[in-house]
Amino acid sequence: MKIAVIGTGYVGLVTGVCLAEFGHQITCMDIHEEKIVNLKKGILPIYEPGLEEVLARNYKEKRIDFTTDIKKVIKEHEVLFIAVGTPPKEDGGADLKHVLEVAAQIGQNINEYKVIVNKSTVPVGTGKKVENIIFEEINKQNKKINFDVVSNPEFLREGKAVEDFMHPDRVVIGSKKEKVVEILKEVYRVLYLNQTPFVFTNLETAEMIKYASNAFLAVKISFINEVALLCEKVGANVQDVAKAMGMDGRISSKFLHAGPGYGGSCFPKDTKALVHIGEIAEEELFVVKAAIEANEKQKIKMVKKIEKEVKEVKNKTFAILGLSFKPETDDMRDAPALTIIEELIKLGANIKAYCPQGIKEAKWRLKLYKDNIVYCDNEYECAKDTDGIILITEWNQFRGMDLKKIKNNMKDNYFFDLRNVYFQNLNIRKLFKYFGVGVL
Ligand code: UDX
Repeated sequence: MKIAVIGTGYVGLVTGVCLAEFGHQITCMDIHEEKIVNLKKGILPIYEPGLEEVLARNYKEKRIDFTTDIKKVIKEHEVLFIAVGTPPKEDGGADLKHVLEVAAQIGQNINEYKVIVNKSTVPVGTGKKVENIIFEEINKQNKKINFDVVSNPEFLREGKAVEDFMHPDRVVIGSKKEKVVEILKEVYRVLYLNQTPFVFTNLETAEMIKYASNAFLAVKISFINEVALLCEKVGANVQDVAKAMGMDGRISSKFLHAGPGYGGSCFPKDTKALVHIGEIAEEELFVVKAAIEANEKQKIKMVKKIEKEVKEVKNKTFAILGLSFKPETDDMRDAPALTIIEELIKLGANIKAYCPQGIKEAKWRLKLYKDNIVYCDNEYECAKDTDGIILITEWNQFRGMDLKKIKNNMKDNYFFDLRNVYFQNLNIRKLFKYFGVGVL
């Protein structure tokens, strides 16, 4: 079975590399020449633990190759994964330009039966649109060629994408055709044999599962974040609240960690897209809307909390530990650190910042504020001569810091632990004026 993956972004690359690891012959295609040249040398455009090794192994074994030639890819492969980007538009909807362009190319170059598998996160109804475009393009050429479009959403977490691909909670296949189901079972043979749960459903339902899952997780985070702020006001401890809530099997303990708000490439984009889908369908999604608003407010409330404790932010220097939206990634899309840093600078603060992977991206995303931010090489240098630490992303290396050493080099000793990493540390409140989120 010859499989091609169109688009070598996050999802496309992980899909291609992992399918090669499953033993398939894979071609990954992208329009960006430089990306393809680099991938052939084993240079990845993103930081994702484990991906480089799996790629190197499969490239050496000749199970994976890279190209910019979309026509050839379409002609020579039976299964075509579409994994191109769907960035957000101004109105919150997903921009389908790239997906629809690929569909047109497929229609123009199709030569025999193909299964087109949509992995990009797209609004309900896009699969049908893709189908129509391919159909029209085939018609224009007065040809009769069969094809099927199937939705197969991804549930990959950045930083754990390889693991998530290899050991998914479920695989969703959105097609009611037996032939397609059989082909997809073959694509995911390794998982199918391993007893991974498979959900077979129609195209629209598969598309909806992705949005509903991400929006639900976003709601869960916004919920616990609001509860955390309330805990602070009433003298409760959100860590215990979340722990006890999580013991209820109906709730589950995952995604109940209070913090500075969710970020990343999925939750902010997908929640807004779902609200937009609701608007078009004239079905208002009150709960998802509230989660989005609560998340925006959460970031600002973190700044307000800092302001309240230090009294005057102006001319104070803060050490930001962690810039990426979460650990084990260099991704800063919608990272809470962006809003928090920006707001603190607007209030007159000076910023020192350190992140194991996020600095490069932070430099261009925060270029407007370059005169107010000093980027550092490690957490100790970052904390030196500052008034307070603001731990925004829970990288493992921030979990076991030498707190005395940190404190001794600081001007003042505020410690805002926005991920509650140290709330149980016996010394933390002796050494610092310590503030977690929703903890006493
Ligand atoms: C998410 C989904 O988990 C994945 O299934 C989907 O395909 C893409 O979106 P990702 O964006 O990589 O993955 O990150 P995830 O680990 O889910 O975290 C998202 C955000 O929520 C991060 O900013 C994280 O810090 C925050 N978060 C997560 C919390 O604040 N509290 C939690 O309890 C969990």
